[in-house]
Amino acid sequence: MADQELHLLSAFLAMEPTDSLIGLARECGGGSVTERVQRFIWEHCITKYAGKLHAPYLRKFLKKLIAEVELNHGDVIDELYEHYAHYMTTLKENDLEKDNARVFKYISFLFPDGCLELSRCLESRKLMVQLQCSLNMLEGDTGCSVWPSSLLLSECILSFPELFSNKSCFEVGSGVGLVGICLAHVKASKVILSDGDLSTLANMKLNLELNRLSVETDMSETTEDPNMVKCIHLPWESVSEKELQNHKPDIILGADVIYDPVCLPHLVRVLTLLLNQEKPYPDQCSNNHPGFSLGSKCSSDAKVNATHQANASNGDESVASLCKRTDNGASHVGLKKRPTALIASVIRNVDTFNKFLTLLDEANLTIEDLTESHRPLNFLPYLKSYDRSTVRLFSISCK
Ligand SMILES: C[S@@+](CC[C@H](N)C(=O)[O-])C[C@H]1O[C@@H](n2cnc3c(N)ncnc32)[C@H](O)[C@@H]1O
Repeated sequence: MADQELHLLSAFLAMEPTDSLIGLARECGGGSVTERVQRFIWEHCITKYAGKLHAPYLRKFLKKLIAEVELNHGDVIDELYEHYAHYMTTLKENDLEKDNARVFKYISFLFPDGCLELSRCLESRKLMVQLQCSLNMLEGDTGCSVWPSSLLLSECILSFPELFSNKSCFEVGSGVGLVGICLAHVKASKVILSDGDLSTLANMKLNLELNRLSVETDMSETTEDPNMVKCIHLPWESVSEKELQNHKPDIILGADVIYDPVCLPHLVRVLTLLLNQEKPYPDQCSNNHPGFSLGSKCSSDAKVNATHQANASNGDESVASLCKRTDNGASHVGLKKRPTALIASVIRNVDTFNKFLTLLDEANLTIEDLTESHRPLNFLPYLKSYDRSTVRLFSISCK
């Protein structure tokens, strides 16, 4: 399949706006939706996936597609006409608009050619994640939609798998669970997802199972199992210090969680408690990437400075701020490390974001903007509705 066709199919499965699909279909046909492109749509999109995707969405797409071909005096293939006629008789015109039903979207991360290390690590040029989402963006306290920050954070995880593999990862406000699925894919040693909304949590569990992951819901600490994702109910307002102390993550993640000023003090309290958890260094650096380790703020500053000072460099500028170089094979006996948080966010309201910064400062936490220096690869070139330039990436750690 050519790249343009792969993009069209991927956009169709991700339920991209229908205008965007028509644009991609035109690109496939060199400027117009030719008979060959229509046949591709029929065979690879409609026939294969009609039963799995939202019927009103398919009807809307077919309507636009037929209008596009007719407007340009082309011939519409019979199969498309017939399928559209079928929807005309079985669906009502306003079904799509009024619908806040759950739908299935498929997000395909397409690995650019040349990502040899990634391909080897992920054993495929493509990762397709199936997600049940709501058409209503506010459903489940906004947790039943895919937000752009989780797309960027997922691209980050897939771009720098060595940072997350063999790491214990804990996400706050996980929503549909996309970030957790990517973490499991790059073989994080432990994946804990959390959310404060119970309907979002139920939807998240379903998504994990759809993507062949086992779900555990117990709050207590358990043994590490890379195929097991833990899903916990964690409202920032009421979660106790003791409950959080059960978890000693290496990395804390959050996507699009900085938006409600009322919740911010509670979110910062949760981050502070998690970021202040110390755990002993493994005796040997177990990172896949020799010489690098993550979350390496240590409680013994003198020792830290001696062994963890220089930033990562050369081929790994992208992860420099997250990683500190360690002496290869050096013993860390007696040293403790603290986690780092990676937060992706769209800054919709500057005052809200500034309030977040003030709260971090008061909590003795430091924040670094990694957006420009740590751009992940673009795994979603077909997703025109996702404007990655609006998402900022931050690391947060203890001062
Ligand atoms: C905008 S959504 C982002 C979801 C997901 N991270 C993403 O980027 O697609 C915000 C998420 O934070 C969760 N959330 C909001 N306030 C919360 C609170 N006080 N405690 C715990 N979770 C909360 C919501 O339930 C929702 O899942």
